[in-house]
Amino acid sequence: MIKKCLFPAAGYGTRFLPATKAMPKEMLAVVNKPLIQYGVEEALAAGLTEISIVTGRGKRALEDHFDISYELEHQIKGTDKEKYLVGIRKLIDECSFSYTRQTEMKGLGHAILSGRPLIGNEAFAVVLADDLCVNTEGDGVLQQMVELHNYYKCSIVAIQEVPKDQTHKYGIIAGEEIEPGLFRVSNMVEKPKPEDAPTYMAIIGRYILTPDIFEKIEQTGPGKGGEIQITDALMKQATEGNVLAYKFKGQRFDCGGAAGYVEATNFCFEHFYKEL
Ligand code: UTP
Repeated sequence: MIKKCLFPAAGYGTRFLPATKAMPKEMLAVVNKPLIQYGVEEALAAGLTEISIVTGRGKRALEDHFDISYELEHQIKGTDKEKYLVGIRKLIDECSFSYTRQTEMKGLGHAILSGRPLIGNEAFAVVLADDLCVNTEGDGVLQQMVELHNYYKCSIVAIQEVPKDQTHKYGIIAGEEIEPGLFRVSNMVEKPKPEDAPTYMAIIGRYILTPDIFEKIEQTGPGKGGEIQITDALMKQATEGNVLAYKFKGQRFDCGGAAGYVEATNFCFEHFYKEL
């Protein structure tokens, strides 16, 4: 059973400067909740209660968010404002939070490797909090992936079809469809030009990884952009037949950029906020 969920959150978030100059990108609010809180809620809904966060310099707000603020609690105790803290209190009560730092920003693969001391030798999930995933019609994306992993016991990446001119932003997979929407990955290319892309199926920010990924990352040198790419390490697992790609049910908003962030804000306002 998977219990741990790793959140690589050490990136600089340069696409959101100056907002991210002194504040982590993962703390950007979509309506009234920071991005990372949506991610932790999705993890908890999938039964993942051990939350591990890879942070970097200037990311202290993340730790403070998942902690009790006694002054604030005292201030609003007994008022109708307490309802605003119900969601975050549930996470603090039901999850454990541990942190480690990535001291140099050497890419997502390296960030995941930095989380190894928190994960150990077990399968784990990875959430990139700037990809906000929702499914208003059933289980969350991580829950869907955990169920698949329980059956297939291998690494799983979440994928979605992207427009042809967007392939350069993603890891792109190719593979054989073994059941509807589920592919055994035979090829992966990091950020290809459209003409070099084997398909338009792009990896988004949800993964389940088996622990041998750490050795594979160690054996992986810098790739595209000089960064240690998780896609390159996953390709090593894929050559052993151990990576599935899953077309998840639900929607994903790329909140690492302004357009996706605005779309997510409108969606969450419509679907979630009014229920408060
Ligand atoms: P992004 O590619 O979105 O990079 O990383 P970024 O630095 O956060 O944002 P931009 O492109 O400069 O605007 C994807 C995820 O991987 C994490 C980021 O925090 C983000 O969640 N990451 C990336 C790390 O933790 N460490 C790294 O060295 C790189």
